Amino acid sequence: MTQPMNESLTQSVTDSFGACADARTQEIVVALVRHLHAFAREVRLTHDEWRRGIEFLTATGKKCDGIRQEFILLSDTLGLSIVMDDINQHREEAATESSLLGPFYRDGVKESAFGANIAQSDGEPAFFHGVVRGLNGEPVEGATIEVWQTAPNGMYEGQDPEQPEGNLRGRFRTNAQGAYAFHSIKPTSYPIPTDGPVGQMLIATGRHPMRPAHIHFRIDAPGYASLTTALYSADDPYVHSDAVFGVKPSLVIDYVPMKTGFDVARDFTLIAQERT
Ligand code: BEZ
Ligand code: FE
Repeated sequence: MTQPMNESLTQSVTDSFGACADARTQEIVVALVRHLHAFAREVRLTHDEWRRGIEFLTATGKKCDGIRQEFILLSDTLGLSIVMDDINQHREEAATESSLLGPFYRDGVKESAFGANIAQSDGEPAFFHGVVRGLNGEPVEGATIEVWQTAPNGMYEGQDPEQPEGNLRGRFRTNAQGAYAFHSIKPTSYPIPTDGPVGQMLIATGRHPMRPAHIHFRIDAPGYASLTTALYSADDPYVHSDAVFGVKPSLVIDYVPMKTGFDVARDFTLIAQERT
């Protein structure tokens, strides 16, 4: 039986990769062609739409430089980044779930003492504390905990010349009981960058650019898999409509009101390296 024209066309393109020496490259490129052809056929893409798509991708590339990565932002807003996270995260129910690193992580922040305050600007005070453990409940001593968050104006320190250098960024080490503690302020929701093609895409499709208030954590300890995650504020208006789909129910936390400010008690569970 002869194949319908559209199937034989797709087949001849996928066959053209038959001599690819690397099996994984071949698998990826063949699947990409199959899905790309199926997509164009499903929506019956017109020439004009195809051209506008090419122009959009060209503008996305032109917006990228050493700091700005518009393609990752596109991946984030199309949910691809969180699918990547889902595919590649370790499947251990008791382990803390991961979330997006985002573009505002900064390496080389100076280590602060247990309980230090990372806020050099005003905001509602919040005390973050907890214990880092392994899957068997063992406390993880000497884990490095890096944290970063926005100020009440919704900006990270690197985006805002008004904020002191290193504001709302911290690096801590867990003690012999696996405990960490630091003072900060309650984070604020903020828009992802909208001054590029991704922002235009959000407007054209009726989507908002907001991320719910969150504080990022990156936890590294010898013998354990690195954990990149974030804790999202339960009372944030965008907690159920994150522009980049990073919220997972297990990462949503309450800020418990205290006499002065809020208390946030949160433990983290890491996966031992041998099991990864
Ligand atoms: C962030 O949480 O910092 C972030 C993540 C993805 C896109 C933009 C910002
Ligand atoms: Fe963020």
